[in-house]
Amino acid sequence: MKIVVTGGCGFIGSNFVHYLLKNTKHEIINLDTLTYAGNPDNLKDIEKNDRYRFVHGRIEDKKLVSDQFKDVDYLVNFAAESHVDRSILDPMPFITTNIEGTATLLEACRNSSIKKIVHISTDEVYGELGESGKFVESLPLLPNSPYSASKASADLIIRAYHETYGLPVTTARPSNNYGYYQYPEKFIPLSITNLLEDKQIPVYGEGKNVRDWIFVGDCCEGIATILDRGKAGEVYNLGGESEKRNIDIVRIILKLLGKDESYIKFVKDRPGHDYRYALDNTKIRDGLGWAPKVNLEAGLAKTVDWYKNNHSWWRPLKERLARENKGFWS
Ligand SMILES: NC(=O)c1ccc[n+]([C@@H]2O[C@H](COP(=O)([O-])OP(=O)(O)OC[C@H]3O[C@@H](n4cnc5c(N)ncnc54)[C@H](O)[C@@H]3O)[C@@H](O)[C@H]2O)c1
Repeated sequence: MKIVVTGGCGFIGSNFVHYLLKNTKHEIINLDTLTYAGNPDNLKDIEKNDRYRFVHGRIEDKKLVSDQFKDVDYLVNFAAESHVDRSILDPMPFITTNIEGTATLLEACRNSSIKKIVHISTDEVYGELGESGKFVESLPLLPNSPYSASKASADLIIRAYHETYGLPVTTARPSNNYGYYQYPEKFIPLSITNLLEDKQIPVYGEGKNVRDWIFVGDCCEGIATILDRGKAGEVYNLGGESEKRNIDIVRIILKLLGKDESYIKFVKDRPGHDYRYALDNTKIRDGLGWAPKVNLEAGLAKTVDWYKNNHSWWRPLKERLARENKGFWS
C-alpha cells in the first residue's frame, strides 16, 4: 500500500516511519515542512530506502497536498505545531497548521480515492480532570490552551467530514508520549538533557500536575492498529496506563542519572495549566486488542540511555533553544 505520513520528521512521526518500514511493506511518502521541530536527522538511517520518499512542503498547501493524493491508499496525519508553551506565546501558527492544514488534507482526500485516514489528536482536547476519573471518547471537548483548542477544532472538522461526506477517517487521541527523537523543549527530554549538561530541571508550580505517559513505540503500535482495524468515524484513546505527577517523573530521572534533588528548580506555573489527564483505554483494548506494553520505569531507562548515547542529535537543538531564549520555564 502507498501511505502519506505528514510530520514524519517530528518526534512521533519519525518513530512511526521507522515502525512502518520495519513492520509493513508500505511505500511511504513523508510530507513535512521542517519547522524547528522537524529534523531530517531523525530519518537519516532510512533516507535511501527505496520504500521511502520525502516531500518538503506544508499541509496547508492545497496544490502540493492534492498532487500527493493521486494514487495513495492511506494517510496518517501527525503534522502539527505541538508545544503548549509556544501556543501561549503565539497561537496563530497553531491555528494555521493544526486547523487549516488538517482541513486542507481532508479536502484533498475528499477528491481522491483514499481508503483510510488516521488523524493524530491528543488527550488534551478533553480539558482537565480533578483527582479522579478518566477521559472516555464520548466526553465533550473542553480544551484550555490555544494548542488543545486548535487540536479540538480539527477533531470537530474531521467528525463533520466523516458525517457529511463519508470520509473514511479515524481519530487517535494519545496521551503524553516520551522516547527517542523527542525535541528537548518537552518535559522529559528537557529534564534528561539538562542533567546531562549538569543543569537544573525546571518544574512548573509544585510539580503536582499529573500526566498519563506512553512510550512512543507503544503509541506507534496503537496507531498502526487503528490504521489496520479501526472503524471509520470512530475515536480511540491511546493511553499509556502510567499516571504520574511531574515531580515523580523528575525523581525517577534524577535517580537514573545519579543526581540529587538540588537539581530541581521550581518555576512559575504555566497559565491555564491543566491539572490532570488520564485516558480510559477500554475501547481500543476490547475493540481492537491493543494495549501498551512498556512500563514507565523501563521506558524511562531506555529513553535516558538513548539521550546519553545521542549527544550529537540533541546538543545542536539545545544550543538553538538557548539562542531563541523563548522564556519558557523562567
Ligand atoms: N508528543 C506528544 O506527547 C503528543 C501527545 C498526543 C498527541 N500528539 C500529537 O501527535 C502529533 C505529533 O506530535 P510530535 O510530538 O511528534 O510533534 P513534533 O512537534 O515533534 O513534530 C511535528 C512535525 O510536523 C511538522 N510540521 C509542522 N507544521 C507543519 C506543516 N504546516 N506542514 C507540514 N509539516 C508540518 C514539523 O516539521 C515536525 O516534523 C501532533 O499532531 C501532536 O498534536 C503528540
